[in-house]
Amino acid sequence: MPRVTASIDLAAIQHNLGVVRRLAPRSRVMAAVKANGYGHGAIPVARALEAAGVDALAVACLEEAVELRRAHIHCPIALLEGVISEEEAAQAVYERLQVVVHDHWQIDMLHRLGPEAQVGVWFKLDSGMHRLGFPLEDVPRLLEVLKAHPGWSFHGWITHLASADEPENSFTREQVTRFSHALQGVAGQRSIGNSAGIIGWPEARADWVRPGLIIYGASPMPGQTGADLGLRPVMRLESRLIAVRDFEAGETIGYAQSWTCPERTRIGVAAVGYADGIHRTFRSGTAARVGGRQVTYAGRVSMDMITLDLRGAPDARVGDPVLLWGDELPAEHVAAQAGTIPYELFCGLTQRVHFRYR
Ligand SMILES: Cc1ncc(COP(=O)(O)O)c(C=O)c1O
Repeated sequence: MPRVTASIDLAAIQHNLGVVRRLAPRSRVMAAVKANGYGHGAIPVARALEAAGVDALAVACLEEAVELRRAHIHCPIALLEGVISEEEAAQAVYERLQVVVHDHWQIDMLHRLGPEAQVGVWFKLDSGMHRLGFPLEDVPRLLEVLKAHPGWSFHGWITHLASADEPENSFTREQVTRFSHALQGVAGQRSIGNSAGIIGWPEARADWVRPGLIIYGASPMPGQTGADLGLRPVMRLESRLIAVRDFEAGETIGYAQSWTCPERTRIGVAAVGYADGIHRTFRSGTAARVGGRQVTYAGRVSMDMITLDLRGAPDARVGDPVLLWGDELPAEHVAAQAGTIPYELFCGLTQRVHFRYR
């Protein structure tokens, strides 16, 4: 039996795509499967999404797209960071990928393929996030570029939101307004909203939405879980107890003796550690579940093990499953306790974790 298992519910992926469609009924859906499908396995996730009729997939870079094409994923795939060399540009054309172009050096590179090259192009505009994208004033210049490249197939205009997960932050509305003004009267489809944009900002839904996290069943909004939105968590991460022992009050647990038994305490050791993706920021007090009962981390995470205060599950035994996150223990809650975000929990799993697909 594997030490650590991530069970992936592909039906939940399809259900969550349905929730996105209900939230944004007039938008087409480009689902983000970058970073190995947010750590869930890009190929099985992409297959499930394609079978459920997703309109397009988004990955970060060429390698991720090629992996999908090799697995016979035929639907449109966009490269969110575009291409970084002429070889990549040529391969993107060959693989029928859509290239998100965010800078003039990328235009020059695509130009070198020849004006008739059939490149699928989105232009990314910087409406305020100041990470990637052309300044909004560049729109007229970009329209000239399109005129000069009749072979390009132009998909539209993308922008990315900086603070959509903050419901009170009016900057999202400002970004949407700037983007819309810059494109007034300009042809081409618009794509704005990521998960938080889709959930919290109807004006950010536009022609295309680009959900990532909500496809995997988690919410990016603080204090909210995916279940609150009708989403189903896709990943269930479990390990097992490999030792259970009682220690007297005052005994200390693990490296740096960072946790002290407040009374006679049953301590469980689970076979999962930072080499599996349980970061050292999972401090004492972070929740886990053993035999359906809530327990807490006690002491530091080590490379291959964690130690748990089992006072909440006094009848726990060696061999019992330990739930790190999943249905009954939302990754959003665990991430908040560990000072991080569910994105990082999912993407942080290592090759030592065994993946099982349902
Ligand atoms: C450009 C772009 N669009 C969409 C997404 C999906 O974001 P989320 O997972 O928050 O929905 C990302 C993710 O980082 C992104 O970089």
